[in-house]
Amino acid sequence: MAAFDPESEIPRHIAIIMDGNGRWAKERDLPRREGHRAGAESVEECLKSCGDLGIEYLTLYAFSSENWKRPEQEVNALMGLLAHFLKEKTPTLIKANVRLQVIGQIEKLPGSSRRQLEKSIRKTADNDGLTLVVALSYGSREEIVDATRELMRKSAEGEMSADNLDNETFSNHLYTRGMPDPDLLIRTSGEFRISNFLLWQISYAEIYITETFWPDFRREHLETAIGEYQKRHRRFGGL
Ligand code: FPP
Repeated sequence: MAAFDPESEIPRHIAIIMDGNGRWAKERDLPRREGHRAGAESVEECLKSCGDLGIEYLTLYAFSSENWKRPEQEVNALMGLLAHFLKEKTPTLIKANVRLQVIGQIEKLPGSSRRQLEKSIRKTADNDGLTLVVALSYGSREEIVDATRELMRKSAEGEMSADNLDNETFSNHLYTRGMPDPDLLIRTSGEFRISNFLLWQISYAEIYITETFWPDFRREHLETAIGEYQKRHRRFGGL
């Protein structure tokens, strides 16, 4: 296991696929929503750890485009949990200098969750510490299609020419415009999948998979992931 070195380079942007809430609950004979509730506590601790460590961006995959296919009861529990979390924790986010942002098709969220989200984003907009990016109703393919649609519209209206399209212009049309790409992608619960998450943005990210279920993910797990990142030699395709 790689030890975390506070003196060495830390990732600027960490993205996390928070997985294993359901299995964590099942192991304890609890309803799945209890796994998500415990997962929200891990979110809180992770935010604090990232703030302490000086991480600039933390992106959390909280609800994917595909998660709408889950039973209505679970979708409602997740939406309710999110709204409750934001309502309760926004003062803490403000105090901790955290700026909240969101990526995804939030127009699909129920009105009450969307309104709470927009309120929390507004209230934390002037903070300049850690940026917490919550991926909600997010799918990377949908994001890429949305960007392409916008670029095609601009081209049809003569606002830009297809010949001028490059990586930077494309990136600037994604939901993540203005954010640095993730340096480290963590997935919990031992699954080796990307699951339609930030496909464009993780081109050069280091990937770290842990067997730990998200509700058990603590500061020590985060530090181990960063320690592993520090051991790797990033070449970005060069030598
Ligand atoms: C994956 O576990 C997790 C989710 C789909 C939801 C993640 C949500 C939270 C941690 C709740 C709060 C979030 C915020 C930002 C406050 P799973 O249900 O797929 O687990 P399983 O694979 O074990 O069934």
